[in-house]
Amino acid sequence: MTVSSAPGKVYLFGEHAVVYGEPAIPCAVERRATVTADPRDDDHIRVEAADLSLDGFTVEYGGPTDDAPDVDVPTPLLRAAMGYVDAAVEQARDAVGDESVGFDITVESDIPLGAGLGSSAAVVVAGIDAATRACGVDLPPEEIAERAYRAEHQVQDGQASRADTFCSAMGGAVRVEGDDCRTIDAPELPFVVGFDGGAGDTGELVAGVRKLREEYDFAADTVTAIGDVVRTGEALLADADPDDPPSDELLAELGGLLNFDHGLLEALGVSSRSLDAMVWSAREAGAHGAKLTGAGGGGCIVALDPTDATETALRYTPDCDDVFRAELATEGVRAEG
Ligand code: PMV
Repeated sequence: MTVSSAPGKVYLFGEHAVVYGEPAIPCAVERRATVTADPRDDDHIRVEAADLSLDGFTVEYGGPTDDAPDVDVPTPLLRAAMGYVDAAVEQARDAVGDESVGFDITVESDIPLGAGLGSSAAVVVAGIDAATRACGVDLPPEEIAERAYRAEHQVQDGQASRADTFCSAMGGAVRVEGDDCRTIDAPELPFVVGFDGGAGDTGELVAGVRKLREEYDFAADTVTAIGDVVRTGEALLADADPDDPPSDELLAELGGLLNFDHGLLEALGVSSRSLDAMVWSAREAGAHGAKLTGAGGGGCIVALDPTDATETALRYTPDCDDVFRAELATEGVRAEG
């Protein structure tokens, strides 16, 4: 039995604009997906997903993964989760050079599904690592990131940036611009995450921004402006000492940029009433700044606040279903057993 885990992430800056070649800075956070892989004697795949914040499922299907599982999975989100596991297995089979190796796979995750915290990337990254190691092949995290990107790209019909998968595989803060992905130094930032209990449809949201951008120059300028926010933010991070706690001045400047980024995303139509309500609760509680994270439409916001004030305020915000502090996950994918 081989067990691997990989972290979810929040976007400090740059979601959506990253799809058009602007830079983005996602940060891995200590919420993990854990995948157990056991090679089987036949070519079947059995997937058990027990704890994906919704009701779990167990499915078994046979043959090469191209025969895609036509299985009865209870909700669209879980069906999507199933697709990611399937794509991860396909990558693992390719990496170990055995197209017909079967696996018993168990997925556990404390990352809300489809909520902007990179749940699918974490499942794919941990799944590829667990399944390949179960066959005696140890891939470097860079290769896991590349294969996980291919898996996401396939499941999302070509609408995926490298941000989530690279961040989950490598851990820490990362910078992604097109195909150029690198880890960057950043101090431990005081992330507070608010979750509205829902999820956005990433494909639909990305398509909406694409349409606006094609239709209006000012929408294209908004996407470019997000890139400018990211470049300003990364210069602030580069000047900070990663080993020291961030100063109030740095948090205030970064927070201002989070607020600006949220405003631009809102203008592009990817926020929602519940996300805005949580953002405003955080700001009114004294957070240095707050924005949605990920595709938007519903899901999570991230705020910067070293005090308990934002957590407390979000707990009393009707639109907020769950709130937690999210520490930077300095380790990306890792073996758990
Ligand atoms: O919601 P998430 O965590 O899957 O993030 C989506 C981020 C987008 O920039 C909207 C799309 C992408 O692939 O980068």
